[in-house]
Amino acid sequence: MTALSAAAAQALDALDPLAPIRELFELPDDVIFMDANSVGPMPKAARGKAKGLLDDWVNLRRRGWSQRQWLEMPSLLGDCIAPLIGAGPGEVVMCDSTTLNQFKAVSHALTLRPERRTLLTQNGNFPTDVHVLQGIAAASEGRLSLRFVDSEDEAVAAMDAEVAVAALSHVDYRSGGRWDMGRVTAAAHAKGVLTVWDVSHSAGAVPVDVRGADADFAVGCGYKYLCAGPGGPAFIYVKRGLGDEVWPALAGWMGHADVYAFARDYAPHGGVKKFLTGTPLVGADELASAMLDVWPKVDPAKLWAKHKSLTDFLIAALKQECGSLGVVVNSPGDHGRRGGNVSFSSPGAGSVVEALIDAGVVSSFRQPDAIRFGVSPLVIRHADCWEAVARLKRVLAETIWRQPKYAKVSV
Ligand SMILES: Cc1ncc(COP(=O)(O)O)c(C=O)c1O
Repeated sequence: MTALSAAAAQALDALDPLAPIRELFELPDDVIFMDANSVGPMPKAARGKAKGLLDDWVNLRRRGWSQRQWLEMPSLLGDCIAPLIGAGPGEVVMCDSTTLNQFKAVSHALTLRPERRTLLTQNGNFPTDVHVLQGIAAASEGRLSLRFVDSEDEAVAAMDAEVAVAALSHVDYRSGGRWDMGRVTAAAHAKGVLTVWDVSHSAGAVPVDVRGADADFAVGCGYKYLCAGPGGPAFIYVKRGLGDEVWPALAGWMGHADVYAFARDYAPHGGVKKFLTGTPLVGADELASAMLDVWPKVDPAKLWAKHKSLTDFLIAALKQECGSLGVVVNSPGDHGRRGGNVSFSSPGAGSVVEALIDAGVVSSFRQPDAIRFGVSPLVIRHADCWEAVARLKRVLAETIWRQPKYAKVSV
C-alpha cells in the first residue's frame, strides 16, 4: 500500500459527493472536532431557530402552539431521521432522553412478555442502559433479574424462553465495535425474545436498518451524530403493530389516541406516538429543527460510504504515523463491524486528550487508556483526519502530554 499523505487526503476529499453538506454547518477555524460521539456539529440554521424561538416567546406565547409546529415537532424530527435508521414515516418520534426512551421500550417489551423473568444485556453496555434495567428489576421486587453477556456469540447463545427482552447497544461506546443487529435479533426471535437496540453510536454515521433487522424497538441520542444540539431530544422506534393496543408504562397526555379531547381516561395512540409523554421540550426541539435543513439533503448510503472512507483512512494514518509511538487501534478493521468512533490506545491517553485540545483537536478519553475520535461524515474531511493524526503525532513525539498542566484529565 502506498504511504498516506496530506495530498492523498485532499485527493479523496476532491471526490466527496457530500462535500457541499459541510457548508451547512457553522465550524470554528482551525479546530477539528472529533467528538460527534458526544455532541455533533451545529447546523448554521440553529442560530436563526434560537432567535426565532425567543421572538415567538415574546410575541406569540400561547399562540405559538397553533401558529408554530411546537406540538408536531417530535413527529417531524422523527420522520426526518427515520431513513438513517432504516425506518419509515410515522415510525419514529424524537422526545425525552435516551434513558427515558429505554425505560419506555423495555417496560413495553416486558408487558408483552409477562411470563418471562430475565433481562439480557451487555456487561460493557453504556451505564444508563444497564441502570434502567436494574431499576426495573429492583421495582419488580425480585421477579425480574439481569443476565449479562460479553460478546455477540454469547448473546446469541444466551437467548432462551426465560428471557423477555434483550436490551443491547448496537455499538460499544468505548471500542466502537458494532454488533450484527439482524443476526442477534433473529436469534432472539427464535426464542420469543423481544429486542431493544440503543443505536446512539451508529445512527447518523454508519448503517442502521431496524426494519431489515426486524428489530422490535430502537432508541438513541439526538445530540450525537444526528446534530440535535446539546441536550437535544432522543428518539424511539417501535416495529409497526407491535403491541399496538397495549398501554405504555409511562402513559401521558401526548401519547393519548385523541390528545385534544382532554378525556379523563387514557387510551393509547397507535404506533410509536403512544411513547410521547408530556408537552414537547420546545426549546430543545427548536434547536434540533435545524436538522430539517440538513438530513433531507443527505443520501444515507453516501453518508455511510463516506464514514467508511474516512475511518479506513484515519485508522491507516494512525498506524502509519503513530504506531511506532505506542498507538494501537482498538476499532475493528472491518467497517461492517465499526461504529461512529475510531478508538485507539495510547501512552498517557487521558493527558494526550487534554494536550490535543490545546493543539486544536477535540476528542475524548475513556478509562483505562482509550482515545475516541468520533467521526461525523457531515463535516469531517480526509484532510481533517490527516491533520488530527499529525497533531497527535506531535503531542506524542515531543512528549507534550507529559507537561504538568495536562495531568488533570476531564471526562
Ligand atoms: C449508548 C448511550 N446511550 C445513552 C446515553 C445517554 O443517554 P441520556 O441522553 O439519556 O443521558 C449515552 C451517552 O453518551 C450513550 O453513549
